[in-house]
Amino acid sequence: EIHQREYLCNGEMRKWDGPVSEVYSPVCIPTSEGLKRKLIGTYPLCTEAEAMDALAAAEAAYDNGRGEWPTMSVDNRIKSLEKFINKMQEQRALIVKLIMWEIGKSYGDSAKEFDRTVEYMIATIEALKDIDRQSSRFEIEEGVVAQVRRSPLGVVLCMGPFNYPLNETFTTLIPALIMGNTILFKPPKHGTLLHYPLLKAFQESFPKGVVNTVYGRGAVVTPGLMATGKINVLAFIGSSKVANDLKKRHPKVNRLRAVLSLDAKNAAIITKNADVKLAVSECLLGSLSFNGQRCTAIKIIYVHKDVADEFLKLMAEGIEKLKVGLPWDKDVKLTPLPEPHKPDYLKEVIEDAKANGASVINENGGTISESFVYPAVLYPVNDKMKVYREEQFGPVIPVVPFDSIDEPIDYQIDSPHGQQVSIFSNDAKEISSLIDPFVSLVSRVNINAQCQRGPDVFPFTGRKDSAEGTLSVHDALRSFSIRSLVATKMNDTNKQ
Ligand code: G3H
Repeated sequence: EIHQREYLCNGEMRKWDGPVSEVYSPVCIPTSEGLKRKLIGTYPLCTEAEAMDALAAAEAAYDNGRGEWPTMSVDNRIKSLEKFINKMQEQRALIVKLIMWEIGKSYGDSAKEFDRTVEYMIATIEALKDIDRQSSRFEIEEGVVAQVRRSPLGVVLCMGPFNYPLNETFTTLIPALIMGNTILFKPPKHGTLLHYPLLKAFQESFPKGVVNTVYGRGAVVTPGLMATGKINVLAFIGSSKVANDLKKRHPKVNRLRAVLSLDAKNAAIITKNADVKLAVSECLLGSLSFNGQRCTAIKIIYVHKDVADEFLKLMAEGIEKLKVGLPWDKDVKLTPLPEPHKPDYLKEVIEDAKANGASVINENGGTISESFVYPAVLYPVNDKMKVYREEQFGPVIPVVPFDSIDEPIDYQIDSPHGQQVSIFSNDAKEISSLIDPFVSLVSRVNINAQCQRGPDVFPFTGRKDSAEGTLSVHDALRSFSIRSLVATKMNDTNKQ
């Protein structure tokens, strides 16, 4: 168990003896009342006062762009980040273990999350060097020399999601930081403790006040921060409901830059010309990796009626082969869910689909054991069912039969989301006829492949309510900075 009684503010590890939040693992243990989620630690339930202290520290460190950090040379900022990366690497084993215990991610995926985060930071350093090299001086007209620079924006509030508590917190925090901004970061509710071993590394690698933590209930500590109008950038990965609420609190929302990655309901479309086996293996990965708890997961499948039987049969067989177990079990694919309300919610979604004419087509589909939900494939799904529109974010796979390709296109047109789509077909003509309609509705079209975010150099964004701004190694550096121009009219004194 880890009992965290301190937090990072203004370069100090401040002691906390106020109330704490208990952290329960999705991994259950037998108790006298049956299986129960295991208590694995506690963290500070700070109040708005501590959040305001963190804001004051970040503002002072930024000092309207005159602080030590925003004015530091790119080389020296990179050295600080390299120091941090080295210190973080020393904590790898502990952090990977905490990812497994806090959110139930398998060992392989937890290790991948850690390593991907380190690779992302190293790639960010290289991207920053590129951007810095491009800030050259050039003559814009005779006698006038211009220099374009990338300047920081101010104080950034970073909030990551529970499904990638380390990686997705850092995909905003690190680029924002290295561009010279100062940071407030609130770890996700599930996936808080794993940040604790990093607080000292932040403290020792960056000047005081550059990175500050905000612990506590989101609804208590974040609205007040936004209402001050002193947050310059909101970097949030999670639900659009929370993002909109936070944005609305800002008194001058037009002065707030938002970098948001939000809800998605990515569709897979299996045409009658698809390689059904390939479609099944990609859809299994796409809809069930980390139990479907990914914004990029395939959350609805349209299958042409001619190939529906074969597709469903192979899906059911494929699920049976996926190993169920605890995060540290070898080759495990299906693990317990961290959000305590999720099993009941998924049950409700399944019952609603059944009441409206769908069946669970795979054996044991939807079976619940405390924090564990066995995947359920629902068929035939229609627009009367909750699962048709709601983002289930869990191991429930709705399958809709179709005759005409207009049906999935219309689904996407009507959808409030627009992140990605996967199209499965072996007919080159059919594929090229579908790219244009979908490219104008979503941000990424995958052909004969599952939806996903990576590789991290790819722009990651979404249309409609799915995102604001773009993330990726290079794009994130742009998202957390602004181009400014120094234009010099040459005269005798500044000719050199
Ligand atoms: O939850 C959303 C993540 O960005 C998914 O990332 O496709 O690499 O699993 P991933």
